[in-house]
Amino acid sequence: MSNESLANLMKEERRFAPPADLAANANVKAAAYEQAAADRLGFWAEQAKRLTWATEPTQTLDWTNAPFARWFADGKLNVAYNCVDRHVEAGNGDRVAIHFEGEPGDTRSLTYTELQREVSKAANALTSLGVEAGDRVAIYMPMIPETVIAMLACARLGAPHSVVFGGFSADALATRINDADARVVITSDGGYRRGKPSALKPAVDEALTKPGTENVRNVLVVRRTGQDTAWMEGRDVWWHELVDQQSDQHTPQAFDAEHPLFILYTSGTTGKPKGILHTTGGYLTQVSYTHHAVFDLKPETDVYWCTADVGWVTGHSYITYGPLSNGATEVLYEGTPDTPHQGRWWEIVQKYGVTILYTAPTAIRAAMKWGDDIPAKFDLSSLRVLGSVGEPINPEAWIWYRKHIGADRTPVVDTWWQTETGGIMLSPLPGVTAAKPGSAQVPLPGIAATVVDDEANEVPDGGGGYLVLTEPWPSMLRTIWGDDQRYLDTYWSRFEGKYFAGDGAKKDEDGDVWLLGRVDDVMLVSGHNISTTEVESALVSHPKVAEAAVVGATDPQTTQSICAFVILRGGVEQDEALVNELRAHVAQSLGPIAKPKRILPVQELPKTRSGKIMRRLLRDVAENRDMGDVSTLTDSSVMGLIQSQLSSAP
Ligand code: WT7
Repeated sequence: MSNESLANLMKEERRFAPPADLAANANVKAAAYEQAAADRLGFWAEQAKRLTWATEPTQTLDWTNAPFARWFADGKLNVAYNCVDRHVEAGNGDRVAIHFEGEPGDTRSLTYTELQREVSKAANALTSLGVEAGDRVAIYMPMIPETVIAMLACARLGAPHSVVFGGFSADALATRINDADARVVITSDGGYRRGKPSALKPAVDEALTKPGTENVRNVLVVRRTGQDTAWMEGRDVWWHELVDQQSDQHTPQAFDAEHPLFILYTSGTTGKPKGILHTTGGYLTQVSYTHHAVFDLKPETDVYWCTADVGWVTGHSYITYGPLSNGATEVLYEGTPDTPHQGRWWEIVQKYGVTILYTAPTAIRAAMKWGDDIPAKFDLSSLRVLGSVGEPINPEAWIWYRKHIGADRTPVVDTWWQTETGGIMLSPLPGVTAAKPGSAQVPLPGIAATVVDDEANEVPDGGGGYLVLTEPWPSMLRTIWGDDQRYLDTYWSRFEGKYFAGDGAKKDEDGDVWLLGRVDDVMLVSGHNISTTEVESALVSHPKVAEAAVVGATDPQTTQSICAFVILRGGVEQDEALVNELRAHVAQSLGPIAKPKRILPVQELPKTRSGKIMRRLLRDVAENRDMGDVSTLTDSSVMGLIQSQLSSAP
């Protein structure tokens, strides 16, 4: 955490009060903070009533086995029923649930009645493939309606899904299938990206040749692009052949509130990806409440659009479960923001009359770069709330977003949360908070968070340290799949009795929270969190590499770019061909997003006495800075060696 960045943030004095009409009609008003502060558990018990329970819970939180939480544990419910059927039963079956916009321009709108039929058919199809409650199903899909339908069908059957981002490689998919011990994979022939079909099924085929994936019985394949697709008879099944012939009637069964809903893998600093486990009742309560509160959703009139991929938690909580549990009408867009032109998103906002837009700072920065004149060509006057998530948003990007997308009148809500938290934790409320560009500001009602120093003491206003969550919350992760010890070590051992989020944070003079990025070594590349260790492991898995150290170097375009230092095995000649080979190797092992921008062969790596690589120093080199303190190095001449080698490199 550099003091320089803190100092810059502290200079931000612009404030934006909520528009009067929004404030007057807001779903959630200032009183919610007082109500929740007076009785936090009572507040959440109240929010649980947003859902339709088959058995109403009488318990709120069971924290007797802390930090393993149980919320609403004696209640029973079905998530898909809550997201679909109950809206039809309430007479809203004709409301559009999903406006799908394919990248090539094909469109499809599904009403809640149609969604109910599709989810029922898909649930019947999965049952016919032997899927039962508790079985894990991997979903490796593009952004199409069947992805949401597949998630809801799994939820309907109590079969936890593990959605794997469609941009991940076969190896990454195999690791995740193996860890979750998935029995069925749902995929598609491909999807459209950047104007052309991009295949997905070949990665599934390759993943299923790898050890640990033998328990996958079937691959259910949606036909999206119509491209040629290799087929394994007996294992592979076309969605349109199996699902379409099913009955569109299906009776949902109620599951315990603590029944697993999904596993979602997140990159960590050490070792293999962590399978973050979310369960049913508490998760749905918090994503439903926060979607209602933070976006001020009015389901009868709003058109909501979250631009995230369903492969990330944002897609789980704020495309599938939050919005649909609230009966929202939402847009689902398949492709990239600049295909076929850089105004595609704004064209979509205009076309569907989008009122609430939720996106990431990296996308906002790209739009800024492309120019103000592009959004100016479209009618964006329908927009009334703008959201941001994924990393700290620079004040200038925040201002640009509000001004050029929000006509200088819409509130911008900067929402801080994580895969692990399941739902939004810190955010302004659009009808309550006087917003500060660049700050997530305050915990939501019912959420307890603060900033502590190294000794776990709460810092005073104006102080900096680590963001911690001091009380359990309904949508918290329950554990790391199959690894309770790692759950304890990762989140609950740094500060006793407090959840350690891994983010640096600062409180300003008003007590508002500013997030300052990860304190560990996860890199952020174009909105994707990528672990240094995973990239290092991929490099070291190449026969010509002995050792590797990876750092994220600040990059104006992609937030960070991956810079790798490698020590080659003896006798290996370093040349450009080898560097390209290594880059391709990482792309093959982890996916193209993890491909290092620079690879620098070196003779030595700087290490501490305990053998840990000092990434801080390498980051200095990667960013062409003077080195800081090198006193903890085993051999302080190493850095000089690296620098002289780099300056003499071709
Ligand atoms: C990490 C979690 C939450 C969905 C997307 C990412 C960073 C997220 C913000 C924000 C500053 C943010 C944090 C966090 N982050 N939102 N509004 N301001 N930082 O989920 O992949 O689990 O990443 O993203 O560093 O810990 P994730």
